[in-house]
Amino acid sequence: MTVRWLLLSQSALPEGDEWLGTEERKVLRGLRFPKRRAEWRLGRFVAKNAVSSFAGIDDFNRIQIIGAEDGAPEAWIDGERADSSISLSHRDRLAACVIAEGTPVGCDLEAVEPRSSRFVNDFFTERERMAVETTADAHRARQVALTWSAKESALKVLRVGLRRDTRSVEVEIDDVEALEAGWHPLRATVNPEGRILRGWWRQENETVLTIVSDEDTPSSTASVSGEPMHSPPRRL
Ligand SMILES: CC(C)(COP(=O)(O)OP(=O)(O)OC[C@H]1O[C@@H](n2cnc3c(N)ncnc32)[C@H](O)[C@@H]1OP(=O)(O)O)[C@@H](O)C(=O)NCCC(=O)NCCS
Repeated sequence: MTVRWLLLSQSALPEGDEWLGTEERKVLRGLRFPKRRAEWRLGRFVAKNAVSSFAGIDDFNRIQIIGAEDGAPEAWIDGERADSSISLSHRDRLAACVIAEGTPVGCDLEAVEPRSSRFVNDFFTERERMAVETTADAHRARQVALTWSAKESALKVLRVGLRRDTRSVEVEIDDVEALEAGWHPLRATVNPEGRILRGWWRQENETVLTIVSDEDTPSSTASVSGEPMHSPPRRL
């Protein structure tokens, strides 16, 4: 399975709304707060770019990104649900979208910044707290941001978000002290089911991006042409 990703900043966003479809404009009209409107528009724009590139469709008016009842974004092409699954995250002036054929995906952007020990105690599992404590000071904020972000990505794969206890997802981060750019692996175990989700992380300036996908689906467990079972996401 190949997961593709796209990260765009606010500066890429057109001023007008002509690239939005009828349903999308309806949703935008209902959003009153400027910050929410801005992040929603940027999220739609990055998602439309991702779907456009993934499906080979240049006309943005043929693509709509509609929030399902649970809040998860879904791509529609020419009024029909697209086969691909997508996930969205926005933070400050950045938005990310991941897209994959069929298998559920989740992504999340998080700032690398100091968080209180109360935050870690309230939302992390015992094992995650230990991982934070044993991480070198220089990398601790990154460890916390990655753990939190991967939890949110996993909760997006499950389509529940923060309705579910964040401690029911246990995250293990590889290479947290890595200095090199690019993707690094992670795992998320959903408990009590014991379901394993695979993921990746990278850092872009002071922001981390995590991606989690559902390894339980047949398409993601098949190894194609000797490629690794879970290959790093590809940029669109
Ligand atoms: C999903 C959630 C964890 C993301 O919150 P966040 O990290 O602050 O925000 P992000 O920018 O990373 O992600 C927001 C995007 O997640 C997606 N999303 C929302 N609910 C989702 C769900 N149930 N499953 C998958 N994705 C979801 C949406 O695309 C949303 O952006 P949009 O509304 O502009 O389309 C959070 O919105 C949530 O828990 N939602 C469901 C429960 C809820 O509505 N609770 C009220 C607040 S606690």
